[in-house]
Order: sequence, then structure tokens, then C-alpha cells
Amino acid sequence: MNVQISNQTLGRVEADAACLLLCEDEVAPAEVHAGWLAELKTSGEFTGKSGEMAIAHLPAGFAAKRLVLIGGGKREQFDGAALRKAVGGAVRALKAKGVKSLAWVLDGGDAEAAAEGALLANFEPDHHKSKKESKALETFLLLADASLQPAVDRGVILAESQNFTRELVNEPGNLLTPGVLAARAREMAAEAGLECDILDQDRMKQLGMGSLLGVAQGSVEPPYLIVLRYTPAAAPKSKDHLGLVGKGVTFDTGGVSIKPSEGMEKMKYDMAGGAAVLGAMRAIAQLKPSIPVTALIPTVENHVSGKAQRPGDIVTSMAGKTIEVLNTDAEGRLILVDAITYAQRLGCTHLVDAATLTGAIVVALGYVHIGAFTNNDAMMARVAAAGKAEGEKMWQMPLDDEYRDLLKSPFADLANIGGRWGGSISAAWFLREFAGDTPWVHLDIAGTAWLEENKPFMAKGPSGIAVRTFARLALDW
Ligand code: BES
Ligand code: MN
Ligand code: ZN
Repeated sequence: MNVQISNQTLGRVEADAACLLLCEDEVAPAEVHAGWLAELKTSGEFTGKSGEMAIAHLPAGFAAKRLVLIGGGKREQFDGAALRKAVGGAVRALKAKGVKSLAWVLDGGDAEAAAEGALLANFEPDHHKSKKESKALETFLLLADASLQPAVDRGVILAESQNFTRELVNEPGNLLTPGVLAARAREMAAEAGLECDILDQDRMKQLGMGSLLGVAQGSVEPPYLIVLRYTPAAAPKSKDHLGLVGKGVTFDTGGVSIKPSEGMEKMKYDMAGGAAVLGAMRAIAQLKPSIPVTALIPTVENHVSGKAQRPGDIVTSMAGKTIEVLNTDAEGRLILVDAITYAQRLGCTHLVDAATLTGAIVVALGYVHIGAFTNNDAMMARVAAAGKAEGEKMWQMPLDDEYRDLLKSPFADLANIGGRWGGSISAAWFLREFAGDTPWVHLDIAGTAWLEENKPFMAKGPSGIAVRTFARLALDW
């Protein structure tokens, strides 16, 4: 889709739909027919509440084919996140009616968020459908001052990167194996101008990544550790070096501790954290923050076979800690810890990871908030600020010392599960053992990386959560 700024007015712009946002109790500009508005209000069809839409066809005095009023809710609460959703809601509703070009009066709003809303709403997870069910918008015209072009450009980069992530997450396990994910990462890195190093099984063996390799051994698909590097052009002022780590399990059967078959098809999205890191790096390469960023995506398939890891197996991680694998379905943490250790080896001073790590986080927070865990309040504050700025909700979970005891094993340094209660917390503690003193935030995105239902502003399926938060974190460092 083509996203452009236009200096046309609401009345003069030529488009299939010209949209005007009205919050509750707001009056429309004079060119909008007052009789129509009064009628809409008395009938209760349009009062400015969020989610409302009223359409006038062939409106007198307008060049556009439709004049569309979009409800914005309370003006005091109408922020960038609300604008992203309002634009998205209009795009999804109107493209379904065959609208190809849509104009939007920005009127002081956040141009970056508006561009994002349009692009994110235009995405459909229909890559493998021979006949596309829904029609796509072709042009989004933002009626705004030309000085806002840089903000629009940022929004386009961020949203297209998020859609890049959604495309990857949507791919099924047969078509997106660890090898394919690594190839896609290499291709993206070449286009974006990022350094790329992909470690294969032999190199990981040499490095002693026994924890990661133990998970991979049950699959015929070889594992990889994808490493991408962004280096700012100017020498950075501080020694800070951000590491982004993402879980890249291309399919999670659970291994020998196999999952129930019902719903197992969803486990193709178990690489959503890794894909989010790739999307963020795509954006970072273009937006050029001043901090160096290294991305690490351990990618494996967690499968069952005669060579698969058994419950009770003891593996040795790259950090030297031994792990008793009590449940082969707790595989995400096993691959992440070797990536965390390697990130430290590469010089990362600050770490964030994103992972579809636990079903327990869905029990705790549902589909709304990311679960956030940290060993460092200042680092948490940075990540929380980035999330807030991008409208990606997160909720900090506790990580007190008392929970560490859940991971005690009589036979190894650590067990890979901590029992049923507080499952997301023991999983986070497992990662923390390896993060050590490095300031670190863990985002459990199991509940937020996949939308179970269509939203007015986004199709159901992969959400691309955490891409914008990660990119913003690097940009605002
Ligand atoms: N990939 C799953 C977590 C998950 C569950 C993601 C539901 C998305 C939706 C993870 O590898 C897993 O299987 N976790 C186990 C941990 C348990 C064995 C301690 C879980 O959550 O059940
Ligand atoms: Mn699992
Ligand atoms: Zn998993």
C-alpha cells in the first residue's frame, strides 16, 4: 500500500473515502452538512463514540465518493494508540466495502501512528489462499502538513517491519523450518545492510551449547543461531550495547512430553519472539539509532523421535550450568539461555528477550498484556516507556528470590521446570540465572503474539507484538 501526505482539503481530496474523526460532543467543520449530522445524532447512529462510523455517498460539495465520519471517543483520552486503532478500524471496515483509496484528516494527530494504523490494518494472513477473501486498500492519503513527512516515513518503516514479522509468524511449520527462518533472516539482513552470522550445529557444539542442542536433537531439521548486528555510523558516546534475543521454535510438539493434539497447530507461532526481533532489526537498520544492537535468534524445531531428548536427561549449557530436563515441552528457556550466554560473549551490556514462553502467562494476563520480568528496575523502566510509547501493553510480574527455589534439582544445577504454580515466573527465573548481572528484561508474549479473534483494527492471527517496542527502545536509548 502507498502511504502519502497530501495537502488537499477534506472537500477537495479525490478518494473513494474521505474520513473525518469526530470525538464525542465535537462539532464538524462547516462543509459537513449540518442537517445530516443533526439527524445522525438524534437517531443515535453517530455520537462520536469510539468504534462508530457513518457513511454518506456522493456527498454534495465533496470530490470524494464517500464522506465517512469516524467516532473517536473522549477527546482527552484520544492518544496515539487510539488514533492507530481508529485509522485501522476505518481501513478494515472500508476496504471490505471495496474502498481502494482512503483519505484521513490528521488535524494535529500523530502522523506516525496514523500511518501505522493503516498499514497494520491492511495486512491479512491470507498468503496461502489461492483466492484472497478480502480486498486490500491501495492508497492511504494523510491530509496533513508536508513537514510531517519524516513521522510518516517512520510509521511506514515500523509498520512494514511489523507486517514482515506477521508474515513469518503466519507460516506453518512445514514451510518455515529453522533453516528457512535463517535464510529469511540472511536475506533481510542483506537488503537492510545488517551484518549476519548464522551459527550451525557444529559451531554451536564447539561453543558448548548443550542446552540448545538437546532440544534440537529430536528433529531432522538442523538448528541455527541467527546473529544480526547493527552498528551505528558515528562512534557511540556510551559503551552500551543492546542485545535482542527472540525464541525461534518453528514448531513445538512438546517433544517426548508431547502436547495434546487439540490446538497443537497453533504451535507454529512459537517463533513469534524471534520473528519480532527480526522485524525490529529491519526497522532499526532503516531508522538508525545511535546504539549498537545485536540480535540473537536461536531457532529449532521441538519434535519427537528416537533421537529426541528424554525427561530426566541432563544437559550442560554454554555457561557451564547443568540442567535436568524434567519436561521436554519447556524447551524455549533451554534454547534461550545459550543465546543469552552467547550475547554476553559478544559484548551485549543490556538484554531484552521476547518469547512465547508459557501458557501460564495467558492464564495470568489473558490476551491483553505482555508479561514483563526483570533483574534491573532501570532497564525495566526503559522497556516500559518504549512499550507505552508504542501502545504495546505490558505488565510487570514479580521475580522475587523466593521463586528461585522452584527450580532446584537434586541431580543438576537447575531443573527446567518449576511446577504448575507461578509457571511464568519460574520460567523467567530460569532465564535470569543466565542473564546474571546483565540488566535484562524478559517479555513473555505467549498471550499477545496471536490474536484469537479479528479486531476492528487488525486481522486475527499473528499480531507482530514487540516489534515496535524493541525498535523504539533502541531509538530512544
Ligand atoms: N510454546 C509453549 C508455550 C505456549 C503455550 C505458547 C501456549 C503459546 C501458547 C512452551 O514451549 C511450553 O510448552 N510451555 C509449557 C511449560 C511447562 C511444560 C512448564 C507450558 O506453558 O505448558
Ligand atoms: Mn513447549
Ligand atoms: Zn514452546
